[in-house]
Amino acid sequence: MAKSFAGPVARDTRYMSISPVNTDLSASLADALAATITPTATDAAMIDRLLGDLRNLSCQPGSLSASDPQFGDLPASVSRYLPSLAAAMPPTPAATALRPCLDRVDWYQIFDGDDIPGNLATGLVAGQIIGGRGLLTSGDLYLGLFLLAPHVTYPLHQHASLEIYHVLSGAVSIRHGRAKPAQRIQAGGHSVTPPHQVHELQTDDEACLIAYIWTGDLTGENWWWEEQPDGSWDRVCWQRQADSSWKVTHREPLSPAEIARSGDQ
Ligand SMILES: [Fe+2]
Repeated sequence: MAKSFAGPVARDTRYMSISPVNTDLSASLADALAATITPTATDAAMIDRLLGDLRNLSCQPGSLSASDPQFGDLPASVSRYLPSLAAAMPPTPAATALRPCLDRVDWYQIFDGDDIPGNLATGLVAGQIIGGRGLLTSGDLYLGLFLLAPHVTYPLHQHASLEIYHVLSGAVSIRHGRAKPAQRIQAGGHSVTPPHQVHELQTDDEACLIAYIWTGDLTGENWWWEEQPDGSWDRVCWQRQADSSWKVTHREPLSPAEIARSGDQ
């Protein structure tokens, strides 16, 4: 029977017998990303840090495999958009290195809860390559894939880690501050977000596949900024869970000190 795109589908088991991931994968991914990404004058030092941390990372083989019962069903957004995104990836060194991971990662929904729009809950999914839920495990750096469905807004948020997004296919707009213009990033492009910098991602008519790296302070807090009906702003803490999904734990008024260090202005 043909797979339905209307909801989660059973995972394809063709890859169940694949050999373990080589723990040298981190170094080869660092080389591939370095050969693909063109740094700018403002982000070159941060990219050196990100790729240096990746190159020198010590990883262990991941504990999850597609034969494990806890390996989740494939999210509907992946079955619907990943085939065309993968087919459209420009043949860069990074895309070539990451392509074998597309079918092997444990794709999962990142955010859930009554407070977020349904298209954000189902339209923003991740597959970790290195991390607590990755093909390789590490507590020192996370690397993986984001898939954003069309018309998804990942609202303004901030975290303590240094982050890079490298667009593998499709396009996304990234905004670094409430009043700042969004920057459109096409396949092959990238955006670096310094620690605590507030940022937002948005897709329009096309989906987007992104490779991300988090390094530095991996504190499991992700603060979303929310404008209140009276015009004031709160920030809401999403806490990383053991399965690398996120849950809301608390909120607080957005302080002038937090705004000052967020790069918002
Ligand atoms: Fe981020």
